[in-house]
Amino acid sequence: MEKGELLYEGKAKKVYQTNDENIVWIEYKDSATAFNGEKKASISGKGRLNNEITSLLFSKLHDLGIESHFIERLSETEQLVKKVDIIPLETVVRNVAAGSFSKRLGVVEGKELPRPIVEFYYKDDELGDPLLTEDHIEVLQLADKKEAALLQEKALQVNAILRDFFKDLGIKLVDFKLEFGKDESGQILLADEISPDTCRLWDIETNEKLDKDVFRRDLGNLTDAYENILARLGGQTVCT
Ligand code: C5P
Repeated sequence: MEKGELLYEGKAKKVYQTNDENIVWIEYKDSATAFNGEKKASISGKGRLNNEITSLLFSKLHDLGIESHFIERLSETEQLVKKVDIIPLETVVRNVAAGSFSKRLGVVEGKELPRPIVEFYYKDDELGDPLLTEDHIEVLQLADKKEAALLQEKALQVNAILRDFFKDLGIKLVDFKLEFGKDESGQILLADEISPDTCRLWDIETNEKLDKDVFRRDLGNLTDAYENILARLGGQTVCT
């Protein structure tokens, strides 16, 4: 497979064409952003960590019957994925109150929810990714009713798998964000990444935060937290 021209550069990744029109080459960057790009930093090693963690989690999900765009990890910071048209919805699953849920609804961070909930946000940086109702999704034609129901079902399946998987590693899966896209045949596939950038992961014993909140809230060294997650997943860590 050959790496071709740059198709798109986002906040955390670059996407390149390949010699196969249905496959793209992704490069994970070392940049960290929060609060819709208001807070920015370059953190050496972050691209490698997110690439490795995402590759491990997509492989795990594949083994358990959840298909995604992921094909293979190519190098420390690169992977090959199926080309998809991203559906402009951020699908968030929550097991425990935290972040915007706690702020919006006045629920103390750390409170277990009686069941997992799914929320949809409009993937639009200019609007600051607003929360959507089912009516918003339908009327704005972001997805039809059947597609939204499918995303919700898949998100809950991913949650059931990852929550148990992380629990066995001593990690609480508080919440996470997924993105989905359509491949050339119109099939809906899980896409983007699943990493400590897109999940809240707390140590079960101490509630230590091992995710991007370390950066958002200035809680310490981000790469130490991500290395901790990668080590528990059985991945290759780098000694510094
Ligand atoms: O900020 P909020 O509490 O709504 O985030 C819920 C989850 O979704 C968190 O795990 C956060 O890291 C993730 N998220 C994300 N990208 C966004 C918004 C939220 O990965 N644009």
